Amino acid sequence: MGTMRIDGHEIPFQENDNILKAALAANIEIPYFCYHAALGSLGACRLCAVEVASVDPAQKPRVVMSCLEFARDGLSVSVSAAAARQVRQRVIEFLMINHPHDCPVCDEGGECHLQDMTVACGPPYRRYRGRKRTFTNQYLGPLVHHEMNRCITCYRCTRFYQDYALGDDLGSMRLRNEVYFGRFQDGPLTSPFAGNLVEICPTGVFTDAVFRQHFARVWDLQTAPSICPHCSVGCNTLPGARDGTLRRVRNRFHPELNRWFICDRGRYGHQYSEHPDRPLTAQVAGVKMSYREALAAAAEQIKAAGDKTGGLGSTREDLESNAMLQTLLNKLSGRFATFSDPQLETATAAAVAALQSSGGAPSLAEIEQADAALVVGDLTAHAPMMDLALRQAYRNGAKLAILHSGPCLLTRFAATTLTVAPHEIGAQLLHLNEQAATASNASNQHKKELADIATCLTTAQRPILIGVSETMSAPEIAALVQLATALGSHARLAYALPGANAYGTTLLTPTNSTNAVLEAIELGQIQTLIVMGNDPLGDARLGARWRAARQRLSTLIVLDCVATTTAEAADILLPVAAWAERGGTFVNYEGRAQGFAPVFQRAEPLPNTVEVLADLAHCLELTLPDVPAVLNNLFPGYQTPFPGTMGPSLPAPSLTMQTDTTIGTASITHPGHWQVALTSWYGDDALASYAAALVELAPAAAVLIHPTAAFKEGIEDKEQVRLRGPAGTVVLPVQLNNDVAADTIALARVTLAQLGVGHGDLLELERIL
Ligand code: SF4
Ligand code: SF4
Ligand code: FES
Repeated sequence: MGTMRIDGHEIPFQENDNILKAALAANIEIPYFCYHAALGSLGACRLCAVEVASVDPAQKPRVVMSCLEFARDGLSVSVSAAAARQVRQRVIEFLMINHPHDCPVCDEGGECHLQDMTVACGPPYRRYRGRKRTFTNQYLGPLVHHEMNRCITCYRCTRFYQDYALGDDLGSMRLRNEVYFGRFQDGPLTSPFAGNLVEICPTGVFTDAVFRQHFARVWDLQTAPSICPHCSVGCNTLPGARDGTLRRVRNRFHPELNRWFICDRGRYGHQYSEHPDRPLTAQVAGVKMSYREALAAAAEQIKAAGDKTGGLGSTREDLESNAMLQTLLNKLSGRFATFSDPQLETATAAAVAALQSSGGAPSLAEIEQADAALVVGDLTAHAPMMDLALRQAYRNGAKLAILHSGPCLLTRFAATTLTVAPHEIGAQLLHLNEQAATASNASNQHKKELADIATCLTTAQRPILIGVSETMSAPEIAALVQLATALGSHARLAYALPGANAYGTTLLTPTNSTNAVLEAIELGQIQTLIVMGNDPLGDARLGARWRAARQRLSTLIVLDCVATTTAEAADILLPVAAWAERGGTFVNYEGRAQGFAPVFQRAEPLPNTVEVLADLAHCLELTLPDVPAVLNNLFPGYQTPFPGTMGPSLPAPSLTMQTDTTIGTASITHPGHWQVALTSWYGDDALASYAAALVELAPAAAVLIHPTAAFKEGIEDKEQVRLRGPAGTVVLPVQLNNDVAADTIALARVTLAQLGVGHGDLLELERIL
């Protein structure tokens, strides 16, 4: 703490601040390229030159790099001094020697830091008349476009990609004037955070390949503060739209959550809203109709069904829509649920109850400060930015332990990895509990790993336990809570929940409601079902049962913005606005209610889900209270969070943990059967799986088996095997993978749906000889 002077203005600084950081915090502009608040200083670009007066009046002032010089009490700095200005001008002139003068056609134009700095500091004309150095560009996959000639050698890309995100397939090559930033060979970037290169590069070397397909000048984009709809982290974003279509998504700074970055699912998943199959016209019995006609038909069916109407909300729909659907169902005395799989409903409810009772989940900024962490499941696929936060903790020296059943990117950084079949996860958590509580030596085949994890957690000052609720059962979630309790009050607990609004939706979900709705349909007690933003007929484990139950319904009414299996089977389809076309609120994994604003309207606007529900109520001659009144009733003291603000905690009544830690310890083996582990990847959520660029990167469908397990069964790599599940049979090649547990096969979400099984279920595997 102290003060210094910059061009006569007294400004404060914090301990260890450099001059540039302190100046920027005080809104004083010093030109710079290579410094980045997340990456620190490097001194590569030499643009941040300032003049610093010496304490000794006999000595001349000297020019220094402001990003490399610590701020000191009483320091006198000049940004405007002629010597400093001249250095900056020469730096720009040198950089522009090789830089193409293609600003009018460059896709970075309008948000290029080099363009801005050249106008601000550089000479107005180029003196150099020789040949420019040129490079060959690389194909880096469908997400990031490469134009290497624009590089100014600031090293921000590699510092982000390698040092910050811990990726290993992009780096700097060659020497001197020939330094090249790219991959060793052409090919898609493999980091789930690669898209951040687009924002981190101060020029147009890395640009958004999806945005380029249907390019718009950035100054023509309509933007508004938004929240990512693709997972429960709730990263803050800034979508940009033009001519009634969504063109891109960028990061928006939130100091406690995503800060400067987002993951590639958040950046590129938006393509779902421009998918060619997106339903844009209402349909009744497969025939296109006007919205009003379809609405009237839906109201007629609901009226006929009366209290035999059911409703299914969704974890990917906002708080407002779910609350209004619940209110409509209450008015009709109908049944309401929000999940399509009862197991997922129970596990999510257990996780939310655990988060509430543990005093709240840590923010991403707090996760970065952990000195030890236990992760249960594949965090990268389910909450990518939580993974990036843990990578920062790891860089700071934290010890990571991973308990998992299938492929998991974070194992690369783990001090201890315990790979066990899905049904053994709970038992291992109980063993860990014993060890943490009593330092006992469990007699277990994984004794060493358990002892290592227990030691690492019990000796840590800031341990964090993170579970992926989609691949955990409720008792396993309870066992993780117990472990947190055993570690003491300094231990923090977080769960990656299944959906952007899973937390908020769960608070509206009556206990065991999914089962109740499904059984009621099967018993003929529900005739008309309203499904909003959900896909029960495409559910992995229960899709076949939902599809059979659907036959008992007289009317299936679907409100959605993607062409799911359920939307395609609808009797009445009411297309609704996608998230960037409307406002709403998502409650993230911390219980933080974050508002998102409508970014744009389509040329032919679609109603949002709340409007459709209100119109339905009107047709039914029912009076629904307005959204604020409904939410205030559900959450006393609720204030609608203003988009662009930090997002307050939802004032929610506490859920009770409905489960205990009774976990079967006997291993479940059936001859010829394997336990199934879901191998998800960051692009396969319900919405992003309609994003073409992400789909292009999806791993090829395969049966992942550990080499030892495969050897035991005589199964070879790439061999075709047949899998039989309750819903169907699939033939796929085997892929040997060291990250899969024994007795386990790891399968993609789409394969699980074809077979009709979920994570932890048993499956028959047959060799095709
Ligand atoms: S590619 Fe971009 S970020 Fe990387 S060194 Fe060049 S200018 Fe800097
Ligand atoms: S971590 Fe989740 S919320 Fe954040 S950008 Fe990625 S998908 Fe979106
Ligand atoms: S920002 Fe200081 S040398 Fe680049």
